[in-house]
Amino acid sequence: MSDIQRTLILVKPDAVRRGLTGEVLRRIEAKGYTLVAAELRTADDDLLAAHYAEHQGKPFFGALVEFMKSGPVLAVVAEGQRVIEGFRSLAGSTEPTAAAPGTIRGDLGRDWGSAVVQNLVHGSDSPESAAREIGLWFPAL
Ligand code: PPS
Repeated sequence: MSDIQRTLILVKPDAVRRGLTGEVLRRIEAKGYTLVAAELRTADDDLLAAHYAEHQGKPFFGALVEFMKSGPVLAVVAEGQRVIEGFRSLAGSTEPTAAAPGTIRGDLGRDWGSAVVQNLVHGSDSPESAAREIGLWFPAL
């Protein structure tokens, strides 16, 4: 059954600073997904508060927003069969130290001893989240 989806991927400021943008895009394309849109930008408080609305009130929320606006992110829309689940498999689990080797976080991420988890990438976690997040980052799509 056809289930072609779009997902919102963010190459986070830590990955951009470390020069890993190309490697992340390479993995997305090597998996067979299609890039539909990409934009390098520094997010502001309003965009990040909307993007992470479900996490408002959690202990890490403030630090997460500060981290996410500490430099440019590459926002990407990728498309393909079951791409939402597929990219989250490529990304690996939240904590880079525990993420499986072979994943973006497992291969390229580590713990840097800061309070904020610097885990390189974000990927939408459901079709509903993807639609909402693509609308926030790429309103013209
Ligand atoms: S939760 O509480 O189970 O919903 O958390 P989780 O799904 O693992 O993570 C939600 C997003 O918050 C990020 N996160 C953090 N960022 C910084 N510091 C800490 N301590 C932290 N814990 C969780 C996590 O990476 C998720 O963001 P995205 O952008 O989706 O990766």
